[in-house]
Amino acid sequence: MEIHKLKSNAKININLNITGRSSSKKIHFIESLVVFIGLSDLINIQETNSKSHKIIFKGKFYKDIPKKNTVFKLLNLLDNKKLLRKKKYKITIKKNIPQKSGMGGGSMNAATILSFFFKKGLLSLNQTKSYAKKISSDVILGLNNKAKILYSNGNVKEIKKKIKYTVLLVKPFYGCATKKIFAINKTFSKKQYFSNKKININERMIVQSKNDLERSAFKKYPKLKTLKNKLLENQKAEFVRMTGSGSTLVVYFKSKVSAKNALKMYKRKLNKCWCILSKII
Ligand SMILES: Nc1ncnc2c1ncn2[C@@H]1O[C@H](COP(=O)(O)OP(=O)(O)O)[C@@H](O)[C@H]1O
Ligand SMILES: [Mg+2]
Repeated sequence: MEIHKLKSNAKININLNITGRSSSKKIHFIESLVVFIGLSDLINIQETNSKSHKIIFKGKFYKDIPKKNTVFKLLNLLDNKKLLRKKKYKITIKKNIPQKSGMGGGSMNAATILSFFFKKGLLSLNQTKSYAKKISSDVILGLNNKAKILYSNGNVKEIKKKIKYTVLLVKPFYGCATKKIFAINKTFSKKQYFSNKKININERMIVQSKNDLERSAFKKYPKLKTLKNKLLENQKAEFVRMTGSGSTLVVYFKSKVSAKNALKMYKRKLNKCWCILSKII
């Protein structure tokens, strides 16, 4: 049967504000400017005659992905509501996006497959969005690759402005578990994005914004702060910011040549880190 080849791109948070949390303290309200980069997991999906779905992970970052992964959870939810009409799928995912990196690899895999089912006509747009929210709060961002604002109330809006940077991704060998970083967060910010107001996204605002989760991540991993300070020494970089709950630090460049030179240097100097270049798409 036909094999469909899908790309599941990594996201980066250009900024991230924690604007509050629920009274149970379990849910944090987050607003963020999110963009997608060229780095992607590669998904092959095909219908099979088997009795059950088959999900296979391979590639550089496939290790230790749990049996109850995001894709498993999604198929399970859809099967329970008979939305896949008894079809079974074989899904192979080549993991190029590191886990616990703040690039939402797991969430984006679920988003890519949801959007495939939507395009195949198995799900309505409302169903697609509602299942996205059931997997995790950031899945909805990955239903397409357009830059988006995530509002504190969980709504998202695509933005038209083209944000152009070459990015150098620097990730230490340890990762940050999102839940643990949120659990120790004490940093809160005022709301910056309002759905009833026009948002003027410009370079100054981008450079001056921040990621509230850096403080918690740096507390848990003091070496991550040292690493950020080292990266900040690069005179050619526009700014350096952690994405999501870490542990990837993103160095933003306007000039591709400068980014390439920086990559060469850091590959030599930071031998305990995974370093690659990518660009905002
Ligand atoms: N499809 C998937 N791809 C990668 N990781 C997954 C997937 N499904 C579940 N996971 C698990 O999700 C966790 C990573 O999520 P999280 O801590 O939010 O990091 P990130 O910020 O990189 O998304 C890992 O423990 C990983 O094993
Ligand atoms: Mg995640």
